[in-house]
Amino acid sequence: MKAVRYHEYGDAGVLRVENIDRPTPGVGQVLLRVTATSFNPVDAGIRSGQLRQVFPVSLPHTPGLDVAGTVAELGPRVTSMAPGAPVIGFLPITGGGAAAEFVSVPVDVLTAAPAALPLADAAALPLAGLTAWQALFQHADVATGRRILINGAGGAVGRLAVQLAKHAGATVVATAGPHSIHTIGADGVDELIDYTKNSVHDVLVEPVDVLLNLVPVRESSNADAQALLRLIRPGGVFVTAVPPVPESVGSRVRVVGMSTRCDVAALAELVRQVDTGVLRVDVAARLPLSEVASVHRQSDAGSLRGKVVFLPGD
Ligand SMILES: NC(=O)c1ccc[n+]([C@@H]2O[C@H](COP(=O)([O-])OP(=O)(O)OC[C@H]3O[C@@H](n4cnc5c(N)ncnc54)[C@H](OP(=O)(O)O)[C@@H]3O)[C@@H](O)[C@H]2O)c1
Repeated sequence: MKAVRYHEYGDAGVLRVENIDRPTPGVGQVLLRVTATSFNPVDAGIRSGQLRQVFPVSLPHTPGLDVAGTVAELGPRVTSMAPGAPVIGFLPITGGGAAAEFVSVPVDVLTAAPAALPLADAAALPLAGLTAWQALFQHADVATGRRILINGAGGAVGRLAVQLAKHAGATVVATAGPHSIHTIGADGVDELIDYTKNSVHDVLVEPVDVLLNLVPVRESSNADAQALLRLIRPGGVFVTAVPPVPESVGSRVRVVGMSTRCDVAALAELVRQVDTGVLRVDVAARLPLSEVASVHRQSDAGSLRGKVVFLPGD
């Protein structure tokens, strides 16, 4: 089968499409025929070796933490899935990824795919959706009456977080750039700040209860993170998906440096929200595996905009 692999850490040039043996599902696993995987910024961090201490992978490694596909074969002792079922999942970070025609995955990371989306587009949901969900509802308590600032709302996580926070009844302030500001605006954001024109520190009308920080690490500094804390009311919470995690001076604000976990119940709830029309999943490009290296290159250069899914069948 075709699979993207790298045999050493390095720049995007280490990514190759290779022909390798199809995996055999082990105990508690299923073999999926991959309809799509997606690109997440962490894929580039793992490939470069920058995250090798946090997420040690075995080389050669296949990237792709999100999967959407159909069950091709059941491993021993798997009774909860039927062959042919369309499923999605957020795969274990240090295991083999889904940028391949087939992948063996633990059955307990999978949930039924949304019916309202093409299966390929559903690969855009698991990691980004779980990050938004866990940030808003597990690390913070976003609900009616709360005021939240989503800093970096234009990306995959931010767009989903805006919709989830609005649906939960919160007042939402968002920062976004020209590429995404119209989409974010259409989601009913209460205050929209174009970060290329204004600093959030200058134009935020009043402090927030919750600040979710999604600005890519190359754009952030310790000083930026500390300054963001001053936009939060005493007793509020700062959730960042991106380092650095600032010190909370005098415990005025609770600070959470989050790391997204697999949570099948939350993923099933996200699927339900897609199917009931609450949540829209935006996909900017659907590309073959031969484009994986090019997308990593754009991400490394800071020029990638919008969610990309890869289709191994193309
Ligand atoms: N800790 C975890 O477990 C975890 C999990 C998932 C993601 N993350 C991290 O969370 C971040 C967002 O992930 P993602 O998948 O949404 O990435 P993404 O789709 O690449 O989005 C990044 C967005 O950041 C926006 N941006 C860039 N510079 C900005 C600035 N100075 N101010 C405000 N916004 C800015 C851009 O939006 P515009 O189009 O508006 O310019 C861009 O689309 C990434 O750094 C990712 O690594 C962490």
